[in-house]
Amino acid sequence: MGWVKQWPKIVLALLLQLLAIGVLALLVKGLSLVVSPPYPDWALVLAQAVIAALLSWWLPYWWRWIQLFIPIGLYAALLLDVSPLMALVLFVLLWLVFRNSVVNRVPLYLTNDITRQALKELVKDRSSVRFIDLGCGLGHNVVYMSKLANVQQSLGVETAWLPYWWAKTQAILRGGQVLRQDIDSVDLSQYELIYAFLSPEPMPKLWQKVQAEMQPDAIFVSNSFAVPDVIPDAIWQLADKRQTELFVYKKDSLSESNQELKHA
Ligand SMILES: C[S@@+](CC[C@H](N)C(=O)[O-])C[C@H]1O[C@@H](n2cnc3c(N)ncnc32)[C@H](O)[C@@H]1O
Repeated sequence: MGWVKQWPKIVLALLLQLLAIGVLALLVKGLSLVVSPPYPDWALVLAQAVIAALLSWWLPYWWRWIQLFIPIGLYAALLLDVSPLMALVLFVLLWLVFRNSVVNRVPLYLTNDITRQALKELVKDRSSVRFIDLGCGLGHNVVYMSKLANVQQSLGVETAWLPYWWAKTQAILRGGQVLRQDIDSVDLSQYELIYAFLSPEPMPKLWQKVQAEMQPDAIFVSNSFAVPDVIPDAIWQLADKRQTELFVYKKDSLSESNQELKHA
């Protein structure tokens, strides 16, 4: 069962919708012994949605809602005679924004102001900092860091097209630099503050890269997602609504005795 969980969630969701059709067919067969068909379309669609949501209980919780609303949404679109072109446009837009959710299992969500202030705090004693945001989303961190007096370079890399265009425009207008580049191809030895807000999925591979390339005096900061089996040099717990945790790693200081809990 473990290997199934490794499949992309979108594939699992589709398979569970198909399984829900099978379960619904069995239920309809059973029901037909008691109440003779036909049954109203809306009831069948609702049953499909509920069964798919229930079958998805083991996926992250938001998938249950997606599974519930997809059959209902499709049915509503049919009733309202929405052009299939709209679905295509919607799909293309979603792909342009959330491409990395499917390809790298990293969705788009954004760092908040309190976290950005913590990043500033982390390097306040350094006179010269080169900052990189690995997967910079809409570029807010890049712009913010570019305005700090001790930040000499502020770069973001991003591969999802719409966030990239947005971040690039922001950088041109407000400061910093954004490149359409994959995290894998960045040379991390050029930066003193390496920041990532990704997901659990890429962390083991990213840590290999960080260890191989990061300079001894640099720090790697991961928002919310710790590197598995590696003890951070420090954990900053922030006083924001989502109780953000910043995991701070140095190249060589990984022993448990170095662990420090800081309340910001
Ligand atoms: C959770 S968002 C964080 C956005 C931004 N760093 C922030 O903190 O506000 C992660 C971003 O990383 C991007 N991303 C994921 N994998 C990537 C990769 N291999 N190369 C470049 N960008 C990537 C996603 O498209 C997404 O915009």
